[in-house]
Amino acid sequence: MSAASSTANANPKILIAAAGVDEKWKEAMVSRLPDANIVTQHENYDPATIDFTLLWKQPQGLLKSLTGLQAIFSLGAGVDHVLSAPSLPTDVPVIRLEDAGMADQMVQYHLYAALHFMRDFDIYARQQAKADWTQHDVARISKCRVGVMGLGALGAAVASALTQLGFAVSGWSRTMKAIDGITTYAGSETLSEFLSQSDILICMLPRTAETEGVLNGKTLSHLPKDAAVINAARGAMIVEADLLRLLDTGHLRGAFLDVAVTEPLPESHPFWDHPKIRITPHIAAATRIEESVDQIAENIDRITRGETPRGLVDRKIGY
Ligand code: NDP
Ligand code: OXD
Repeated sequence: MSAASSTANANPKILIAAAGVDEKWKEAMVSRLPDANIVTQHENYDPATIDFTLLWKQPQGLLKSLTGLQAIFSLGAGVDHVLSAPSLPTDVPVIRLEDAGMADQMVQYHLYAALHFMRDFDIYARQQAKADWTQHDVARISKCRVGVMGLGALGAAVASALTQLGFAVSGWSRTMKAIDGITTYAGSETLSEFLSQSDILICMLPRTAETEGVLNGKTLSHLPKDAAVINAARGAMIVEADLLRLLDTGHLRGAFLDVAVTEPLPESHPFWDHPKIRITPHIAAATRIEESVDQIAENIDRITRGETPRGLVDRKIGY
Protein backbone atom coordinates (compact mmCIF):
# COMPACT_ATOMS: atom_id res chain seq x y z
CA MET A 1 0.00 0.00 0.00
CA SER A 2 1.11 3.54 -0.49
CA ALA A 3 0.59 4.39 3.18
CA ALA A 4 3.31 7.03 2.84
CA SER A 5 0.78 9.15 0.99
CA SER A 6 -1.43 9.37 4.10
CA THR A 7 -1.39 12.60 6.02
CA ALA A 8 -0.10 12.40 9.60
CA ASN A 9 -3.06 13.15 11.84
CA ALA A 10 -2.94 12.89 15.63
CA ASN A 11 -6.74 13.27 15.83
CA PRO A 12 -8.04 10.90 13.18
CA LYS A 13 -11.75 10.80 12.51
CA ILE A 14 -13.04 7.25 12.86
CA LEU A 15 -16.45 5.87 11.88
CA ILE A 16 -17.79 2.67 13.44
CA ALA A 17 -20.46 0.56 11.68
CA ALA A 18 -20.64 -2.63 13.72
CA ALA A 19 -24.06 -4.23 13.29
CA GLY A 20 -25.74 -3.64 16.64
CA VAL A 21 -22.62 -3.36 18.80
CA ASP A 22 -21.47 0.08 17.65
CA GLU A 23 -21.57 1.62 21.13
CA LYS A 24 -19.39 -1.13 22.67
CA TRP A 25 -16.75 -0.59 19.99
CA LYS A 26 -16.96 3.17 20.34
CA GLU A 27 -16.41 2.98 24.09
CA ALA A 28 -13.37 0.71 23.66
CA MET A 29 -11.89 2.84 20.86
CA VAL A 30 -12.41 6.08 22.81
CA SER A 31 -10.55 4.67 25.81
CA ARG A 32 -7.71 3.37 23.57
CA LEU A 33 -7.48 6.50 21.38
CA PRO A 34 -8.75 9.38 23.57
CA ASP A 35 -7.57 12.06 21.11
CA ALA A 36 -9.34 10.59 18.11
CA ASN A 37 -12.70 11.84 16.94
CA ILE A 38 -14.86 8.71 16.98
CA VAL A 39 -18.46 8.43 15.78
CA THR A 40 -20.86 5.57 15.13
CA GLN A 41 -23.00 5.19 12.04
CA HIS A 42 -26.01 6.36 14.08
CA GLU A 43 -24.56 9.81 14.88
CA ASN A 44 -24.34 12.89 12.69
CA TYR A 45 -21.04 13.16 10.85
CA ASP A 46 -19.64 14.56 7.63
CA PRO A 47 -18.76 11.43 5.57
CA ALA A 48 -16.08 13.24 3.58
CA THR A 49 -14.05 13.90 6.75
CA ILE A 50 -13.78 10.26 7.90
CA ASP A 51 -10.17 8.95 7.87
CA PHE A 52 -10.75 5.37 9.03
CA THR A 53 -13.78 3.11 9.28
CA LEU A 54 -14.31 -0.04 11.36
CA LEU A 55 -16.84 -2.38 9.74
CA TRP A 56 -18.87 -5.47 10.47
CA LYS A 57 -21.85 -6.07 8.17
CA GLN A 58 -22.04 -2.40 7.22
CA PRO A 59 -25.15 -0.95 5.56
CA GLN A 60 -25.15 -1.07 1.77
CA GLY A 61 -23.72 2.01 0.08
CA LEU A 62 -21.99 3.33 3.22
CA LEU A 63 -18.50 3.18 1.71
CA LYS A 64 -19.50 5.29 -1.30
CA SER A 65 -19.98 8.38 0.86
CA LEU A 66 -16.61 8.04 2.67
CA THR A 67 -14.50 9.84 0.10
CA GLY A 68 -11.48 10.67 2.30
CA LEU A 69 -10.76 7.19 3.69
CA GLN A 70 -7.18 6.13 4.46
CA ALA A 71 -8.07 2.56 5.45
CA ILE A 72 -10.97 0.19 6.11
CA PHE A 73 -10.74 -2.14 9.12
CA SER A 74 -12.74 -5.38 9.25
CA LEU A 75 -13.95 -6.17 12.77
CA GLY A 76 -13.39 -9.84 12.02
CA ALA A 77 -10.73 -12.13 10.62
CA GLY A 78 -12.78 -12.53 7.45
CA VAL A 79 -13.05 -9.71 4.94
CA ASP A 80 -15.58 -11.24 2.56
CA HIS A 81 -18.24 -8.86 3.95
CA VAL A 82 -16.06 -5.87 3.01
CA LEU A 83 -14.65 -7.08 -0.32
CA SER A 84 -18.11 -7.97 -1.62
CA ALA A 85 -19.47 -4.44 -1.02
CA PRO A 86 -20.38 -2.94 -4.42
CA SER A 87 -19.38 0.52 -3.13
CA LEU A 88 -15.88 -0.57 -2.03
CA PRO A 89 -13.33 1.98 -3.30
CA THR A 90 -10.56 0.32 -5.33
CA ASP A 91 -7.66 2.27 -3.87
CA VAL A 92 -8.30 2.16 -0.10
CA PRO A 93 -6.38 -0.48 1.91
CA VAL A 94 -8.51 -3.13 3.66
CA ILE A 95 -7.12 -4.49 6.92
CA ARG A 96 -8.30 -7.56 8.80
CA LEU A 97 -7.90 -8.73 12.38
CA GLU A 98 -5.15 -11.28 12.91
CA ASP A 99 -6.00 -13.65 15.75
CA ALA A 100 -7.18 -10.85 18.11
CA GLY A 101 -8.16 -13.45 20.71
CA MET A 102 -9.85 -15.72 18.17
CA ALA A 103 -7.14 -18.40 17.79
CA ASP A 104 -7.65 -19.76 21.34
CA GLN A 105 -11.39 -20.03 20.76
CA MET A 106 -10.91 -21.72 17.39
CA VAL A 107 -8.57 -24.22 19.05
CA GLN A 108 -11.19 -25.00 21.73
CA TYR A 109 -13.93 -25.42 19.11
CA HIS A 110 -11.88 -27.78 16.96
CA LEU A 111 -10.53 -29.89 19.82
CA TYR A 112 -14.14 -30.51 20.88
CA ALA A 113 -15.36 -31.21 17.34
CA ALA A 114 -12.43 -33.49 16.41
CA LEU A 115 -12.79 -35.48 19.65
CA HIS A 116 -16.54 -35.73 18.99
CA PHE A 117 -15.77 -37.94 15.99
CA MET A 118 -12.54 -39.55 17.21
CA ARG A 119 -14.24 -40.79 20.44
CA ASP A 120 -17.47 -41.81 18.62
CA PHE A 121 -19.69 -39.32 20.49
CA ASP A 122 -21.74 -38.94 17.30
CA ILE A 123 -22.45 -42.68 17.37
CA TYR A 124 -23.20 -42.67 21.12
CA ALA A 125 -25.67 -39.77 20.67
CA ARG A 126 -27.59 -41.83 18.11
CA GLN A 127 -27.39 -44.89 20.39
CA GLN A 128 -28.75 -42.88 23.34
CA ALA A 129 -31.86 -42.08 21.32
CA LYS A 130 -32.48 -45.85 21.10
CA ALA A 131 -31.39 -46.71 24.69
CA ASP A 132 -28.53 -48.71 23.14
CA TRP A 133 -25.57 -49.49 25.50
CA THR A 134 -23.23 -50.94 22.82
CA GLN A 135 -19.55 -50.20 23.54
CA HIS A 136 -17.03 -49.57 20.76
CA ASP A 137 -13.24 -49.92 20.79
CA VAL A 138 -11.40 -46.66 21.41
CA ALA A 139 -9.26 -45.81 18.40
CA ARG A 140 -5.65 -44.68 18.89
CA ILE A 141 -5.47 -40.91 18.48
CA SER A 142 -2.22 -41.20 16.52
CA LYS A 143 -4.10 -43.26 13.91
CA CYS A 144 -6.72 -40.57 13.41
CA ARG A 145 -5.67 -38.35 10.50
CA VAL A 146 -6.87 -34.74 10.58
CA GLY A 147 -6.50 -32.47 7.54
CA VAL A 148 -6.66 -28.71 8.10
CA MET A 149 -7.46 -26.57 5.05
CA GLY A 150 -5.98 -23.11 5.61
CA LEU A 151 -2.89 -22.63 7.75
CA GLY A 152 -3.22 -18.93 8.54
CA ALA A 153 -3.56 -17.16 11.88
CA LEU A 154 -6.36 -19.49 12.97
CA GLY A 155 -5.80 -22.71 10.98
CA ALA A 156 -2.15 -23.01 12.03
CA ALA A 157 -3.10 -22.66 15.72
CA VAL A 158 -5.79 -25.34 15.32
CA ALA A 159 -3.40 -27.68 13.47
CA SER A 160 -0.67 -27.27 16.13
CA ALA A 161 -3.08 -27.87 19.03
CA LEU A 162 -4.44 -31.04 17.43
CA THR A 163 -0.86 -32.27 16.86
CA GLN A 164 -0.04 -31.66 20.52
CA LEU A 165 -3.06 -33.73 21.53
CA GLY A 166 -1.71 -36.62 19.45
CA PHE A 167 -3.70 -36.51 16.20
CA ALA A 168 -1.81 -37.15 12.95
CA VAL A 169 -2.22 -33.73 11.35
CA SER A 170 -1.66 -32.48 7.84
CA GLY A 171 -2.38 -29.04 6.45
CA TRP A 172 -3.17 -27.51 3.07
CA SER A 173 -2.61 -23.92 2.04
CA ARG A 174 -2.09 -21.80 -1.08
CA THR A 175 1.64 -21.37 -0.51
CA MET A 176 3.88 -23.96 1.17
CA LYS A 177 4.15 -23.80 4.97
CA ALA A 178 6.54 -25.48 7.43
CA ILE A 179 4.92 -26.20 10.82
CA ASP A 180 6.46 -28.53 13.42
CA GLY A 181 4.91 -31.98 13.43
CA ILE A 182 2.53 -31.30 10.53
CA THR A 183 2.69 -32.71 7.00
CA THR A 184 1.99 -29.83 4.66
CA TYR A 185 0.57 -29.57 1.15
CA ALA A 186 0.12 -26.52 -1.05
CA GLY A 187 -1.90 -25.66 -4.15
CA SER A 188 -4.89 -27.11 -5.95
CA GLU A 189 -2.81 -29.85 -7.58
CA THR A 190 -2.23 -31.45 -4.15
CA LEU A 191 -5.83 -31.14 -2.92
CA SER A 192 -7.02 -34.65 -3.80
CA GLU A 193 -3.94 -36.27 -2.22
CA PHE A 194 -4.40 -34.16 0.93
CA LEU A 195 -8.12 -35.02 1.13
CA SER A 196 -7.59 -38.74 0.53
CA GLN A 197 -5.75 -39.07 3.85
CA SER A 198 -8.02 -36.88 6.02
CA ASP A 199 -10.31 -38.91 8.32
CA ILE A 200 -11.44 -35.62 9.82
CA LEU A 201 -11.39 -32.59 7.53
CA ILE A 202 -11.30 -29.09 9.00
CA CYS A 203 -11.99 -26.05 6.82
CA MET A 204 -10.26 -22.87 8.03
CA LEU A 205 -10.05 -21.10 4.67
CA PRO A 206 -11.11 -17.53 3.93
CA ARG A 207 -14.00 -17.08 1.50
CA THR A 208 -12.55 -15.99 -1.84
CA ALA A 209 -13.36 -16.51 -5.52
CA GLU A 210 -11.04 -19.55 -5.41
CA THR A 211 -12.30 -21.15 -2.21
CA GLU A 212 -16.05 -20.81 -2.79
CA GLY A 213 -17.46 -24.28 -3.36
CA VAL A 214 -14.03 -25.90 -2.94
CA LEU A 215 -15.74 -28.70 -0.97
CA ASN A 216 -18.17 -30.15 -3.49
CA GLY A 217 -19.33 -33.60 -4.57
CA LYS A 218 -16.10 -34.27 -6.45
CA THR A 219 -13.61 -33.09 -3.83
CA LEU A 220 -15.53 -34.48 -0.84
CA SER A 221 -15.54 -37.87 -2.59
CA HIS A 222 -11.74 -37.89 -2.27
CA LEU A 223 -12.12 -38.13 1.51
CA PRO A 224 -11.81 -41.67 2.88
CA LYS A 225 -15.10 -43.51 3.52
CA ASP A 226 -16.54 -42.52 6.91
CA ALA A 227 -14.62 -39.25 7.06
CA ALA A 228 -16.10 -36.31 8.98
CA VAL A 229 -16.14 -32.63 7.98
CA ILE A 230 -15.81 -29.67 10.34
CA ASN A 231 -16.47 -26.18 8.97
CA ALA A 232 -16.19 -23.07 11.14
CA ALA A 233 -14.88 -20.82 8.34
CA ARG A 234 -17.63 -19.80 5.92
CA GLY A 235 -20.65 -21.73 4.66
CA ALA A 236 -19.88 -20.86 1.03
CA MET A 237 -16.83 -23.16 0.97
CA ILE A 238 -19.14 -26.23 1.02
CA VAL A 239 -21.76 -27.09 -1.58
CA GLU A 240 -24.48 -27.95 0.94
CA ALA A 241 -26.51 -30.25 -1.33
CA ASP A 242 -23.37 -32.29 -2.12
CA LEU A 243 -22.51 -32.60 1.57
CA LEU A 244 -26.04 -33.84 2.34
CA ARG A 245 -25.88 -36.37 -0.50
CA LEU A 246 -22.55 -37.80 0.68
CA LEU A 247 -23.85 -38.03 4.27
CA ASP A 248 -27.02 -39.76 3.08
CA THR A 249 -25.23 -42.22 0.78
CA GLY A 250 -22.97 -43.15 3.70
CA HIS A 251 -19.67 -41.95 2.24
CA LEU A 252 -19.33 -39.36 5.00
CA ARG A 253 -19.83 -40.13 8.66
CA GLY A 254 -20.84 -36.70 9.92
CA ALA A 255 -20.43 -32.94 9.80
CA PHE A 256 -19.87 -30.37 12.55
CA LEU A 257 -20.86 -26.95 11.20
CA ASP A 258 -20.61 -23.45 12.69
CA VAL A 259 -21.41 -21.65 9.43
CA ALA A 260 -23.88 -21.99 6.58
CA VAL A 261 -24.53 -20.42 3.18
CA THR A 262 -27.52 -18.56 4.66
CA GLU A 263 -27.20 -17.29 8.23
CA PRO A 264 -29.12 -17.49 10.47
CA LEU A 265 -29.76 -21.01 9.19
CA PRO A 266 -33.42 -20.99 8.00
CA GLU A 267 -35.82 -22.99 10.21
CA SER A 268 -36.71 -25.30 7.32
CA HIS A 269 -33.07 -26.09 6.42
CA PRO A 270 -32.33 -29.85 6.26
CA PHE A 271 -29.15 -29.39 8.36
CA TRP A 272 -31.16 -28.72 11.53
CA ASP A 273 -32.53 -32.20 12.11
CA HIS A 274 -30.07 -34.28 10.10
CA PRO A 275 -28.92 -37.14 12.36
CA LYS A 276 -25.31 -36.85 11.18
CA ILE A 277 -24.98 -33.07 11.51
CA ARG A 278 -24.16 -30.95 14.56
CA ILE A 279 -24.87 -27.21 14.22
CA THR A 280 -23.60 -24.23 16.20
CA PRO A 281 -24.70 -20.65 15.35
CA HIS A 282 -21.45 -19.01 14.10
CA ILE A 283 -19.90 -18.88 17.57
CA ALA A 284 -16.60 -20.70 17.01
CA ALA A 285 -14.52 -17.58 17.69
CA ALA A 286 -15.84 -14.17 18.68
CA THR A 287 -13.85 -11.02 18.04
CA ARG A 288 -12.33 -9.87 21.34
CA ILE A 289 -12.79 -6.11 21.53
CA GLU A 290 -9.78 -5.36 23.77
CA GLU A 291 -7.23 -7.20 21.60
CA SER A 292 -8.86 -5.82 18.46
CA VAL A 293 -8.78 -2.15 19.42
CA ASP A 294 -5.07 -2.55 20.30
CA GLN A 295 -4.41 -4.03 16.86
CA ILE A 296 -6.46 -1.33 15.11
CA ALA A 297 -4.85 1.51 17.09
CA GLU A 298 -1.35 0.18 16.31
CA ASN A 299 -2.26 -0.05 12.65
CA ILE A 300 -3.58 3.51 12.59
CA ASP A 301 -0.22 4.57 14.08
CA ARG A 302 1.64 2.58 11.42
CA ILE A 303 -0.38 4.11 8.59
CA THR A 304 0.09 7.58 10.05
CA ARG A 305 3.86 6.97 10.12
CA GLY A 306 3.74 5.80 6.50
CA GLU A 307 4.37 2.14 7.38
CA THR A 308 2.56 -0.97 6.15
CA PRO A 309 -0.17 -2.09 8.57
CA ARG A 310 -0.38 -5.63 9.96
CA GLY A 311 -3.15 -7.75 8.41
CA LEU A 312 -3.21 -5.85 5.12
CA VAL A 313 -5.49 -7.71 2.71
CA ASP A 314 -4.25 -8.56 -0.77
CA ARG A 315 -7.24 -7.44 -2.83
CA LYS A 316 -6.13 -9.53 -5.82
CA ILE A 317 -6.28 -12.87 -3.94
CA GLY A 318 -9.15 -11.83 -1.67
CA TYR A 319 -7.77 -12.36 1.84
P1 NDP B 1 -5.71 -16.20 7.19
O1 NDP B 1 -5.86 -15.23 6.08
O2 NDP B 1 -4.71 -15.94 8.26
O3 NDP B 1 -5.35 -17.64 6.59
C1 NDP B 1 -5.95 -18.14 5.45
C2 NDP B 1 -5.32 -19.47 5.08
O4 NDP B 1 -6.04 -20.02 3.98
C3 NDP B 1 -3.86 -19.32 4.64
O5 NDP B 1 -3.10 -20.41 5.09
C4 NDP B 1 -3.98 -19.34 3.11
O6 NDP B 1 -2.84 -19.83 2.43
C5 NDP B 1 -5.11 -20.32 2.94
N1 NDP B 1 -5.76 -20.14 1.62
C6 NDP B 1 -6.37 -19.03 1.13
N2 NDP B 1 -6.77 -19.26 -0.13
C7 NDP B 1 -6.43 -20.52 -0.43
C8 NDP B 1 -6.56 -21.32 -1.59
N3 NDP B 1 -7.14 -20.86 -2.69
N4 NDP B 1 -6.06 -22.57 -1.56
C9 NDP B 1 -5.45 -23.06 -0.44
N5 NDP B 1 -5.28 -22.34 0.70
C10 NDP B 1 -5.77 -21.09 0.70
O7 NDP B 1 -7.16 -16.41 7.82
P2 NDP B 1 -7.54 -16.74 9.33
O8 NDP B 1 -6.85 -17.98 9.73
O9 NDP B 1 -7.38 -15.54 10.19
O10 NDP B 1 -9.13 -16.97 9.19
C11 NDP B 1 -9.68 -17.94 8.34
C12 NDP B 1 -11.17 -17.72 8.19
O11 NDP B 1 -11.87 -18.14 9.36
C13 NDP B 1 -11.63 -16.27 8.05
O12 NDP B 1 -11.44 -15.81 6.72
C14 NDP B 1 -13.10 -16.34 8.43
O13 NDP B 1 -13.90 -16.57 7.29
C15 NDP B 1 -13.18 -17.57 9.33
N6 NDP B 1 -13.56 -17.20 10.71
C16 NDP B 1 -14.70 -17.75 11.26
C17 NDP B 1 -15.06 -17.44 12.56
C18 NDP B 1 -16.22 -18.09 13.22
O14 NDP B 1 -16.55 -17.73 14.36
N7 NDP B 1 -16.87 -19.06 12.61
C19 NDP B 1 -14.27 -16.50 13.38
C20 NDP B 1 -13.08 -16.02 12.72
C21 NDP B 1 -12.77 -16.35 11.43
P3 NDP B 1 -1.40 -19.07 2.54
O15 NDP B 1 -0.91 -19.39 3.94
O16 NDP B 1 -0.58 -19.71 1.50
O17 NDP B 1 -1.67 -17.61 2.33
C1 OXD C 1 -14.78 -13.47 11.52
C2 OXD C 1 -16.02 -14.10 12.00
O1 OXD C 1 -14.52 -13.49 10.31
O2 OXD C 1 -16.36 -13.91 13.19
O3 OXD C 1 -14.04 -12.91 12.35
O4 OXD C 1 -16.67 -14.84 11.26
